[in-house]
This record gives sequence, structure tokens and C-alpha cells, in this order.
Amino acid sequence: MPAFGILGAQWGDEGKGKIVDFLAEQATMVVRFSGGNNAGHTVINNKGEFKLHLVPSGVFWQHVTPVIAAGVVVDLAQLIEEIDALEERGVDTQRLVLSDHAHVVMPYHVQLDHLEEQARGNNAIGTTGRGIGPAYVDKAARVGIRTGDLLDEAYFAQRLEPVVAQKNALLTKVYGAEPIDEAAIYKQALEYGARLRRYVGSAEQVVGQALRHGERVVLEGAQGAMLDLDHGTYPYVTSSSPMIGGALTGAGVGPHQIAGAVGVFKAYSTRVGGGPMVTELDDEVGNEIRERAWEYGTTTGRPRRVGWFDGVAARYSAQVNGFTSCVLTRLDVLDGISPVRLCVAYELDGKRLEDFPSVLSVLERCEPVWEDLPGWTNPTAGATRFAQLPEEAKGFILRLQQVIGTPIDMISTGPKREETIVVRQIVS
Ligand code: GDP
Ligand code: IMO
Ligand code: MG
Repeated sequence: MPAFGILGAQWGDEGKGKIVDFLAEQATMVVRFSGGNNAGHTVINNKGEFKLHLVPSGVFWQHVTPVIAAGVVVDLAQLIEEIDALEERGVDTQRLVLSDHAHVVMPYHVQLDHLEEQARGNNAIGTTGRGIGPAYVDKAARVGIRTGDLLDEAYFAQRLEPVVAQKNALLTKVYGAEPIDEAAIYKQALEYGARLRRYVGSAEQVVGQALRHGERVVLEGAQGAMLDLDHGTYPYVTSSSPMIGGALTGAGVGPHQIAGAVGVFKAYSTRVGGGPMVTELDDEVGNEIRERAWEYGTTTGRPRRVGWFDGVAARYSAQVNGFTSCVLTRLDVLDGISPVRLCVAYELDGKRLEDFPSVLSVLERCEPVWEDLPGWTNPTAGATRFAQLPEEAKGFILRLQQVIGTPIDMISTGPKREETIVVRQIVS
């Protein structure tokens, strides 16, 4: 059972990139299974600092095959740019496999993402503007273009023609925008396809073979459970499933092959874009955390909304994913802050709620029930052993573990690969 899902457990940006880069040392394959270049995964290691959007975070290890699986939507220009930038910095990307089933984010998807957000006005989702929603819409509507389609010019032309006609009707009649030029889109996509041809193949076969050989495969999540299309704070979600279920579908593996579903949590909360966030801080402490942790989007540069750790959302996330263990990141950000707050329940109309409300309008009215824990003055930053941590930090971690109901097996104390505490081996 050698596949491990490393999954965002909150609203994204939990530090999945750092953790996947660290754990990939013990794997032979790292598979991105959902989302697209809405993701921004930061990795800081011996090769430098990198911001990855599509290329899996295991790419830095020579023994690792990075795979972009069927569940991902791929902006071809972005992928080419990312591959080139990595190669320029001496990172070998030749082993990359791009699923022929992965859907392409076409230029009209990006355009529609912007137009749809504008049309939403005050109810805008705050998307990353990368065309992700519209690309998944076309996939579900069965009018999407897959990377494999680009390898057959005639077939691609046949697929593209009705889509462009439909998009042009939408663009001109609904949004009053200019029509798009089918010939130009066709030519450019074919050029990108030719450039990426060498990577395109059956990712399912590659992953399946590795699993048959008992190799360790890391399934790299993007986004986070609270942004899941089914289980997140709909409609303020992304258009795919960043959870363990999405990992199975997106990568094409079965449940018996999953040895662990690992939730990555940061020691507090952040959210980019709209939607309810019960523990949000609109005060100096929130600003301080944002500035000291540089909580600005990796993909869009937008300031992230900051709040204390939300134990109710965390329990829910652990439940809908069936987490087998957790990773806690950014512990060092709380160094010197006291008290450290933790939301253990919600309150609504004078009643205490233990469970995450499923109705958005209810969630929007919930207030946090706080538990204050003593902060710590000695820094945790850079610690590599649990025993090194101040007693108060240990207390905080143990309390989080109780609240989530899942063991915390790894702790990250800084953005660099080595700034990591392994309490129990996750990938073994
Ligand atoms: P991802 O999308 O989940 O991969 O996370 P991002 O890369 O978007 O955001 C996480 C940010 O936190 C990045 O800037 C990381 O370099 C940084 N980071 C990751 N782990 C830690 C940690 O333990 N401590 C600190 N201070 N920064 C961290
Ligand atoms: P990583 O993998 C944080 C958010 C957007 C918006 C919502 C929908 O780096 O954790 P979309 O462009 O997907 O249609 O936007 O989802 N979002 C993310 N927030 N981290 C991400 O990825 C995100 N990917 C999408 O901000 O609220
Ligand atoms: Mg990110």
C-alpha cells in the first residue's frame, strides 16, 4: 500500500510544497492530481527558492518521477514557462510525465474566469483568474480539450470548432466582448502541444506500474479541503476535489493502494478570496501575523486573510478526508505571541456548535468559542527535534492534536527543507 496523499487541510497555502519536497526523498514518484496553476507551492532547498504552479514539488530529487495526472487542468504556456525556468536554474525536468487525459486550460477559459468574476460583482468568489473554473466546467460538459487531443491535428480541429462557436456566442451575446479567433487559438495550442509532446503519456500506467512494484508514491494535493467543490464552503470553493477522494480519481489509483491520507495544517488559518472565515482577525495581531509570515498569495500576490486555528473546520476536514495523520506547519510564526488562541467550537444564537455547519448562511453567522493557551518566548524557528521545543509549544501541539482528533506526525518550523521535525515517519 505505498501511496500517500499529502493534502491541504484548510484553505490552501498550508505549506504542502515544502512538505512534499521533504517527503519526496523517500519516494520514487510525486503526482499532482487536481487543480491547476491556481496552486502556488513554495519550495526552499539546496537548489534555491522555487514557486511551483504545475510541476510537482518532487522534481528536485533525481530519483523522483514527477507526474501531472488526469485530474489536473493544465495551462500549457504556464507549464512551458515553468519547465524552462526550472531548467535555467539547473533543475532537471526531463523525467516529467504529463497525462494525456489532463484537460487544457484554454485562453478562453482565462478570459471567461475574469468576465464571470466581474459579473458576480459583490458576490465575486475571488478566484485566482487562471481559468480553472471554466476549464472544469468544460470538462464536465464534455467539451474540454485534453493534452492528448493536441497530438492529432485533425481530431483537435474537430474538437475545437464547436467549442469556439459556443464560446463566441457566450462572449459576444452575454458579455458583449470581442469574439475569439479559432485559427489563432488552434495554431498556438498545437505549437504548445508539440513543445510538450515528449512529456505526454499515460500517467495512469506510469503510476500503476510504480505501485505494482511497491514503490512509494506521493500524491501531492493542491488547494485545501475547505475549498473542495463538494465539501468546502460552496460556492466559495475551487472547481475540483483537493481531498483524498480527488486524489484517487485524479491519479487513477484504488483505495487499497493508499497507505496514508495526511492533512497539512498551518498553526493558524489563512484564506485568499471570498467566503466565510469564522476565526478571521481584523486587528493588529492579524496584521502582525500577515507581515511576519509574509502571508501574500504565491500565485496572485494578494494579501491573505489571517485568523487563529479553526478547530471546528479542522475536525471536519479530518473527517471528510479520513486523515491518518497530520503535519503542522509554520509553528515558528507564533513564536513570541501570547496568548495563542484556538477555536474549539462555534456559537450561534447562544448555542454551542461542535460540528461544522453545512449551510453557508449558518456558517456566516457563527462566532468562535476560544481557548487561550500560553505562548512561548524561546523560539521554535529552525527546531529539528520535538524535545527542543518550549513546553508551551509542545502543549499547543498536543492540544491541536486532541482537537483535530488525528496524530500530528510532523512539524515544520521554517520554510527550508531541513527546518522540520519528524515525530513519526509518514512515508515508510
Ligand atoms: P502551499 O500552497 O500549501 O504549498 O503553500 P505556499 O507555498 O503557498 O505557502 C506557504 C508559505 O509558507 C511559503 O512561503 C513557504 O515558504 C512557507 N512555509 C512553509 N512551511 C513553513 C514553516 O514551517 N515556517 C515558515 N515560517 N514558513 C513556512
Ligand atoms: P495552493 O495549492 C489558496 C482559492 C482562490 C479562490 C478559490 C477559487 O497554493 O494551496 P480558483 O482560481 O481555484 O477558481 O479560485 O480558491 N484558491 C486557493 N487559495 N491556495 C491555493 O492553492 C488556491 N487555489 C485556489 O483564492 O478563493
Ligand atoms: Mg500556495
